[in-house]
Amino acid sequence: MANERASFGSKIGIIMASAGSAVGLGNIWRFPYLAGEDGGAAFILLYVICVLFLGIPVMVAEFLIGRRSKANTGQAYEVLAPGTQWKWVGLMGVLAAFLILGYYGVVAGWTLEYTVASVAGTFLGARDYTAYFNDFVSDPWWPVIYMFLFILMTHIIIVRGVKDGIERCSKVMMPMLFLILCVLVVCSLSLPGTAKGLTFLLKPDFSKITGKVVLDAMGQTFFSMSVGMGCMCTYASYFTKDANLMKTAGSVALINTCVAVLAGFVIFPAVFSVPGLSVDAGPGLLFVTLPNVFHLVFSGMPWLGYIFSLMFYVLLVLATLTSTISLHEVATAYLCERFKLGRTRAAWVVTGVCAALGVCCALSFGLLSDIRLWGMTLFTFSDFLTAKLMLPLGGMFIAIFTGWWLDRRVVREEVTNNGALDIPFFKFYVFLLKYVAPVSIAAIFIHELF
Ligand code: PHE
Repeated sequence: MANERASFGSKIGIIMASAGSAVGLGNIWRFPYLAGEDGGAAFILLYVICVLFLGIPVMVAEFLIGRRSKANTGQAYEVLAPGTQWKWVGLMGVLAAFLILGYYGVVAGWTLEYTVASVAGTFLGARDYTAYFNDFVSDPWWPVIYMFLFILMTHIIIVRGVKDGIERCSKVMMPMLFLILCVLVVCSLSLPGTAKGLTFLLKPDFSKITGKVVLDAMGQTFFSMSVGMGCMCTYASYFTKDANLMKTAGSVALINTCVAVLAGFVIFPAVFSVPGLSVDAGPGLLFVTLPNVFHLVFSGMPWLGYIFSLMFYVLLVLATLTSTISLHEVATAYLCERFKLGRTRAAWVVTGVCAALGVCCALSFGLLSDIRLWGMTLFTFSDFLTAKLMLPLGGMFIAIFTGWWLDRRVVREEVTNNGALDIPFFKFYVFLLKYVAPVSIAAIFIHELF
């Protein structure tokens, strides 16, 4: 199997694809609204701590499991630990991929609708944008249609394969995303609310830190870095032998955090520029608050508002697409290799299942809003189940597997590329995996959930 496996073509392709998976709605939609709800800078500080001590170590662990086993995440553990129960960690990852793509596809669909609306100039006039958002998400057809279109776009890239589909798209889309983001930051920092926006993002108020905020920050770390469910493991099975795993993880984490913070630099100055808008608007922040900003702040220069809104939603679509392909790939690679299906056929199965889940989540804002699980709608439940439970739990098991179970020689060989690289903090890395990650994840769980 090892010889016929697809692989990424270059180091830059590896970084772009992995960063593409990490950078997504998590950074631009989820991060700002959690920061808004959880007190801004204090949340960001906790998030950065989690990235350094949990996110990066677990990402490197996933990388080494994937590259060593040369298998998708659903089978990687069977290769490295045959006949053990560790395989369930990988299978839980595949399940998480289906579930996340199901509800993520819904928000992805919203970004597509908002892009179309931007092209049509919808966000220039005065209108009730809360009603616009609510009417749209509760409609029985449009959110479903856009969700389906988005998953189909993902599908088309996936069937083209690892190098021609995933790598090539990431290499085009990620630089575009940076460019757009930089232009937007410059525009946003010239708005009247800049000082207030930056204070909110950069000056921590420690009294805001509660157990919920810590759980949110940890969940956000795993979700935003795409770790804990085998996405990075599956991608790493396509890495070349000479890729430096530590450096790649460090670069991806840096890019991912920068994009989240820069997205905050775009969003909060804009929100604070309009009196009466609230930063803790929840999941609607991007879709309700920002259209108000476009229309109010740029009312004197409508063409600038037009460009700003269009660029913003295109940015969102690009970021989202590079993440949906990574989720799709986890499931497609598993079905392909486990059941020996052709790539196209496997991709259709994934597209079909995710679209079906997506329909349920999309309708949970309207027709199915009465269906509640533990008081949550299907959409909120999927987010809670995956981001706050499955990913941190997966991360904990991945750390335990790599730190305690896997032969230390294997870990060292992968991290140092068989001795070719000098990794001075290897012992510290193992310490983080063995103790810090599992204990802190378990502690946060126990504190918050029981
Ligand atoms: N990291 C992606 C984001 O920030 C979401 C994602 C989670 C993608 C898990 C793949 C796996 O939007």
